[in-house]
Formats: sequence, C-alpha cells, structure tokens
Amino acid sequence: MNDLAFFPISSQVNGQGELTIAGHDLTRLAEQYNTPLYLFDAATLRGQANSLKQLLAKEYPGESLVAYAAKAYFSLGIARKLAALDLGVDVVSLGEFNLALKAGFTPDRIHLHGNNKSRQELEMALDLNIQAVAIDSLDELALLEKLAAAKQRKARIWLRITGEFGLHTHAHIDTSGVNSKFGLHLANGQAVEALRQARASRWLDLVGLHTHLGSMLFEPEAYQQAIQAQYRLAEAEGTIPAEISPGGGWGVRYNPADPDDGYAAWVKVVSATVQAECARLGWPLPRLVLEPGRSLVGRAGVAIYRVGACKTTPSGLNIVAVDGGIADNPRYALYQAQYSARLVKQAASAPMQDTRVVGKFCESGDVLIASVRLPAARRDDLLSVPVAGAYQLSMASNYNLAPRPAVLWLEDQSMEVLQAREQPDQSGWWV
Ligand SMILES: Cc1ncc(COP(=O)(O)O)c(C=O)c1O
Repeated sequence: MNDLAFFPISSQVNGQGELTIAGHDLTRLAEQYNTPLYLFDAATLRGQANSLKQLLAKEYPGESLVAYAAKAYFSLGIARKLAALDLGVDVVSLGEFNLALKAGFTPDRIHLHGNNKSRQELEMALDLNIQAVAIDSLDELALLEKLAAAKQRKARIWLRITGEFGLHTHAHIDTSGVNSKFGLHLANGQAVEALRQARASRWLDLVGLHTHLGSMLFEPEAYQQAIQAQYRLAEAEGTIPAEISPGGGWGVRYNPADPDDGYAAWVKVVSATVQAECARLGWPLPRLVLEPGRSLVGRAGVAIYRVGACKTTPSGLNIVAVDGGIADNPRYALYQAQYSARLVKQAASAPMQDTRVVGKFCESGDVLIASVRLPAARRDDLLSVPVAGAYQLSMASNYNLAPRPAVLWLEDQSMEVLQAREQPDQSGWWV
C-alpha cells in the first residue's frame, strides 16, 4: 500500500525523504507553531465535500443537503471554510450553535441534535426558526411544544427514530439498538407516539424523519434498513415526510485493515432506498439530508508531534513517547482506534520496527498507536499521524494542564491559523 494512502491528497515526500503537505515544510511549521500541531489540508476537505455533493446530484433526483456534523471538529476558522462550501450544519450545543451563526451558517441550514437539549438551546432554535430540531424523546417533544406555545411560534421538527439495523461498530460509537440513549425507539412504541403527538400539535410542524446509526460504518445495508424503517412508520401513520435524514456515520480508513471509504457505495444505497420507498408508496421525493462529520474532515487532518523519550521494555516492546497523547487524541483510550504514522523525515531505506507510540500524560492508557511500523525514532524527530481531523481536537482536554494545540489550514502557497495554541490564562486555571 502507498506510504501516503492515509495522508491528505496534497501530501508528498521530497527527495530528502521529507513529508510535505500542500507544499509546506512541516519541520518549519513545527518550529514556528510548536508541537503538538494539527494541520488541515484544504484540498482534501474541499475534495470530500465536492465528491459527496456531486454523487448526490448524480444519484438522487430530488433536493439534497449535506450538513456537516460539527462535533467532529469545529472552530470559527474551519466553520467559516465549511459555510463557504455551501454546507448545512448539525449542532448539538449552544457553543456549536453560536459558532455556526458567527461563521455565516444561516438558520435555515442549521439543525439541532442532542439527547438532552437545554431550554436555552430549544428557545434559541425557536427564536431563529432553524431548519429543524431533531426531537430525541417524548419528554423533549412536550417541552418544545410548551416553549413554542409560550412564544406563539411554530417549531419545525424531525423525529429521531431508533431501532435495530444490524450494525457492526464499536459499542461506544453505536447510537442505535434497544439500549441506546438516543432517539425515539420503535420497539417500545415511542416513535409512533411522538409522531401522533407531533401531528396533533398546533405548535409543532413535523417536517422530517431522522436516524443516526453510529460512526465508522462501512455497511450501506444498515442505512437501507433504517430508511425502510422510517418509511414503514410514515406509511403506517399516513405521514409523508418532506425531509429524510439517514444521519452521518460513514467510515474513514485509518489503517490498511479498514474497508474502502469512498462515498459512492453510501450515496448509491441511500438514494436508491429513498427512491424505491417513494415509488412503492407513490409519494414525492423528500429532501435528503446527509450529516457527515468524520468522513468530511478526518483525512484532511494530520497531527504532528515531537518525539521525546524512547525506550525498549524487558518484553522487547519499542516505546516512542511524543509530546501529545490522550489530551489531544483520546480515541485509542475510548475505543482502541488504530492509526498509521510516519516520521516527517524518513529515509525510504530505513529499516522498520514494531513500535508503540505513547503520549506524555500520567495514565497507562495514554497510547496513541498500539503498534505501528516505524524506523528507529530518536529524540527531536517529528512524527506525523494521519486521519487526525475528526474527534480528536473536538474531544481534547487539558489533562495534566496541557494547552490545546494550534491548528493550521494549508492551501497551496498559503497558510492560515484556524485555532491558536491555547494559553494557560485562557483556560480558567489561573482564576
Ligand atoms: C446525529 C448525528 N449526526 C451525524 C453524526 C456524525 O457522525 P460521523 O462523524 O461519524 O459522520 C453524529 C455523530 O455522532 C450524530 O450524532
């Protein structure tokens, strides 16, 4: 497999064995902005967004919208880039909501998710008349109706439907199934109940049905089952949805063991299923809303670390410690995520050895990569870890009072700071 298969599409290795992204010298960037340092490649992110939009235009004859799931990674800098790509956005908190507005997403392109939305979040959605609030429970349905009545404003809603759709992903990123905290379950009748209550309410405008299955999915059949379940519910209750959303969750390749992550298989099955259901029922095509997070930004991101202490354990394990770890990337600790990596300067002929990359934090679970083939690394080398764009920075912490890293946006010939390195006095530790 190509050495750069997991890196951004603008990555190259020059004659000295040095990795570049969009033509930028990573050693210089690391010296200037310090490490850990996160880089986003503009060409990769734009390529993913365009490929998804083009596939939808080709496969789906109805209207469609790609709405970025902000939780994958959001900062004002990247939000502005995404808004300029004409995407919608899925937000789950006041923070994401306010940032989306500031970045230029108009309310009609914002929808609100979350299993425990606050009054304030719901009121803001009502005041701004956003695209939709994805109702997650009967409790929330009642609360939103009460708030809408008090404001004399009608709320546009989706119902988030939960069921068993035959998924295979890590339990921590599976959001469906009978024990899920998310959504209105089909199995206990709450989905039907919500649909009836929504239709009966003069303050709720039921515009769509939604299902989000989980993350790191490579099985289009699960989406097919979910959409069919949405239509069975709609059919039984005689409700024609104006919008259908099978959520996000399409996977990204992190290492050679992961399957192909091209969008084609996903878009084909989702589009064909919605069309088949509408043909079966004689219903008009809904607006199809996809909500990718990881697959839009994952491969665009690369994390750069400085190597520090290196040792070999009595069992022969080669350990390379870097200056980041669980604080900027908790994904190994959360669900044993597997990554590839390369030294920024790596001679093609260098002998490789099995290596464990660990962080600098006081926790044995502070592992970045349990096992990866690398040349013998030495203090002060730079290590690059690809597919770092999603669910790393957005889940980063200040463990051991580590500041969150700087993030750069790399275009051919230019560079921008998307997020400045956090300073201790910004974090509330010194108050
Ligand atoms: C409702 C909803 N939509 C979309 C997503 C995005 O998922 P992914 O980043 O795997 O595409 C999530 C992730 O948790 C989600 O909860």
